[in-house]
Amino acid sequence: MEGSRHAYPRCGAGLARLGGHREKIILPQETTEADIETQAITEANQIVSFPIEDVSLDFQVLGPTQKNPQDNEVLVVVSRKDRIEERVAAAEAAGLKTAIVDVDTYATLRAYEQITFQLPEDGRNQTVAIIDIGATTTHVNILHDNLPVYQREHPFGGQILTQEISRRFDLPTEEAEDAKRKGLLPESYESEVLRPFLDAVSVEIQRALQFFFSSTPYQSVDHILLAGGCASIPSLDEVVFSKMQTSTLLANPFSKMAISSRVKARQLAADAPALFVVCGLALRRFDPE
Ligand SMILES: Nc1ncnc2c1ncn2[C@@H]1O[C@H](COP(=O)(O)OP(=O)(O)OP(=O)(O)O)[C@@H](O)[C@H]1O
Ligand SMILES: [Mg+2]
Repeated sequence: MEGSRHAYPRCGAGLARLGGHREKIILPQETTEADIETQAITEANQIVSFPIEDVSLDFQVLGPTQKNPQDNEVLVVVSRKDRIEERVAAAEAAGLKTAIVDVDTYATLRAYEQITFQLPEDGRNQTVAIIDIGATTTHVNILHDNLPVYQREHPFGGQILTQEISRRFDLPTEEAEDAKRKGLLPESYESEVLRPFLDAVSVEIQRALQFFFSSTPYQSVDHILLAGGCASIPSLDEVVFSKMQTSTLLANPFSKMAISSRVKARQLAADAPALFVVCGLALRRFDPE
C-alpha cells in the first residue's frame, strides 16, 4: 500500500505476500494522517480477534466516496505481526531484504490485469474465477466486470497428491515431490493416483463456486483461470473444463510480456501459473525510501 509508513518493513529489494483482513472506512476529508491512523487502529480492534499489540496494520486513502465527495474512503489492512515476521524471515534466509509486504489478493488482481486481453471484451461484463491451487491452500478470487466481488481460501492443494504418491509408491516426501514434477512415475500413476486427484480438484472447484453462488447474487461464472503450482499438472485444464463446462484457461501472466534472452521461454511457460502471485507482487509500485 503506497504512501504509508507504519508497521511494514520497507527497506530493500524483497517482496513478501500474506493474506490479511481488509476493511474500508469512511472519514471526513479533513481528517489528519494521525487521526486516520487512530481510526484505523479502532477499526482493527473490531475486525480481528487477537490483541492489537500482535497486529500490523496499514492504510491507504482511496479517495472521495460516491455518496459524499466531502468524505474519503480509507482502506485498512490488518495482519498478525507473526505472519509478517515469518515471511520476512523466509526472504532473509533467501538473501533478500523485504521492502514491502502485500496482501496476496492484491497481487493476484495485478497479475490478472496481464491476462484480461485473452478474455472476451477484455473481461468487461464477465464473471471470472481465479482459482490458485498451491501446496496446501486454494485461493479463490472472483471478479465481475474486472472488479473483485469475492475472495475465499480453501484448505486443499498439491500436497495431497504428493502424499498419495509417497504412500502408493513408498517414496520419501521429497522424492515423491520431485517425481511428481518430473512425471517420473510408474504407469499405474496416471489412472490410479493422478486421475482421482484431478477429479478431486474439479469437485473442490465446484464446491468453491457453490460457496460463491450461495453467498452472492451471482449464479454462474463465465471463465475459470487456473493458477498456482498445481495448474502446471498436465491436462488439469481439460479435466476442469469437461467437468465444469466452463471456459478454462491456464493463467500465464507473462504471455504479453517481452522475455529476456536469459530466460528459458519454455520453462517460464511451464512455471507461469505458479508465478502468478509472484508476478503480481513484482508489478507493484512502491516509493523507494
Ligand atoms: N510441474 C508440476 N507438476 C505437478 N505439481 C506441481 C508442479 N509444479 C508445482 N507443483 C505443485 O504445486 C504446489 C505448489 O504450488 P505453489 O507454488 O502455488 O504453492 P504455494 O503458493 O507455495 O502454497 P500455498 O498457496 O498452499 O501456501 C506443490 O504441491 C507442488 O508439488
Ligand atoms: Mg499459493
